[in-house]
Amino acid sequence: MAKNSLRVKKIKEIYYGFLSERPKNFNTATDKTQHQIVYIVKLRFFMKEKLELILKEASEEINNSNNLTELEDVKVKYLSRKGELNSIKKNLKDLSDEEKRTIGSLANNISNQLNEMISAKNQELYRIELNKKLINEKIDITLPSDYRPQGKIHPLTQTINEIVEIFQGLGFSVMPSEYSPEVETEYINFDMLNFPPNHPAKDMQDTFYTKTAPNVILRSQTSGAQIRQMLNKKPPLRVISPGRVYRCESVSARKNNLFHQIEGLMVDTDITFADLKGVLNEFVRIYFGSSRPTRFRASYFPFTEPSAEVDVQCIMCQGKGCRTCSGTGWLEVLGAGMVHYNVLKNVGIDPEIYSGFAFGMGVERLTMLKYAINDIRLFFNNDTRFLNQF
Ligand code: PHE
Repeated sequence: MAKNSLRVKKIKEIYYGFLSERPKNFNTATDKTQHQIVYIVKLRFFMKEKLELILKEASEEINNSNNLTELEDVKVKYLSRKGELNSIKKNLKDLSDEEKRTIGSLANNISNQLNEMISAKNQELYRIELNKKLINEKIDITLPSDYRPQGKIHPLTQTINEIVEIFQGLGFSVMPSEYSPEVETEYINFDMLNFPPNHPAKDMQDTFYTKTAPNVILRSQTSGAQIRQMLNKKPPLRVISPGRVYRCESVSARKNNLFHQIEGLMVDTDITFADLKGVLNEFVRIYFGSSRPTRFRASYFPFTEPSAEVDVQCIMCQGKGCRTCSGTGWLEVLGAGMVHYNVLKNVGIDPEIYSGFAFGMGVERLTMLKYAINDIRLFFNNDTRFLNQF
């Protein structure tokens, strides 16, 4: 009893708060003590009762949970920091050591039991919800899918890729694109390439001039790339440069005012016409097949000397003469020649030390010849019936 009397004050507080009973006016100290004893018994009894009630109610609620959210709510209600079990545990501090032990271990026991029940129920509900999901969200893999037509590489791009690959195999590399702008100066497109000013040679290529700046044109050939390359790099050079060119021509089955060329350039010491023939014959052999004969015809370009035009035997009539080859048996595929003395001088390469060859081929023409296409405009109409064939 002595122990209890030491805690009178504390017990009174609990007494008022916990049981909501007003203190009686005790007549004697014995009355008081007796009352306290009753309270502690009540308190212990009540706590135990309360804990058992919690266990009973919580178990029922766990069992009755229909889904994971409901289960989570039960967990919060009983086991969280502000939950019912914890509020009981908080009151333990007001009991004797022994009571703390009994009630405390009962409370822990209950909280363990509840935790176990909740995790078992959790697994059960999770499985049910997963199964429901699997059934509801099942994908029917036998359903036909949306048809998405697959894109293709344009036949001209295919030809460019193929030709670039052939020349790469012969040791050529592709020029950086900054050396081959499509909007070019007359100076690079013509003057540096040894076209004399106002020389009728300029009429060979009907050029688009711009109004915005004098002497700024849409390039009529890729040969300007040679100049930019040679101005920026010294020999040895072995490069090609594919790109678009523009000519002010009336559009027909054979001519379009936008088309593609591939320029080639090789400059080093001791480059001869034999090297030019060797490289171009090898190209034609790979591109058209080994059985196709070629012929070099003397020609004229201001920037090459000597110049040549290269023909392959007509793929339609095998050289017999037909409409495609205008009865000649030959088809012209590219222009070429030894880089002119003046051109080398213009770009500051000593023509006494270095020599070189250049060539230029039309991508459309090479594609038309290979696949027997009879109208250049087909490349630019974007008609998928045509494009799908490549
Ligand atoms: N640039 C010439 C043309 O467009 C082709 C060519 C290139 C000829 C290089 C010789 C050397 O017709």
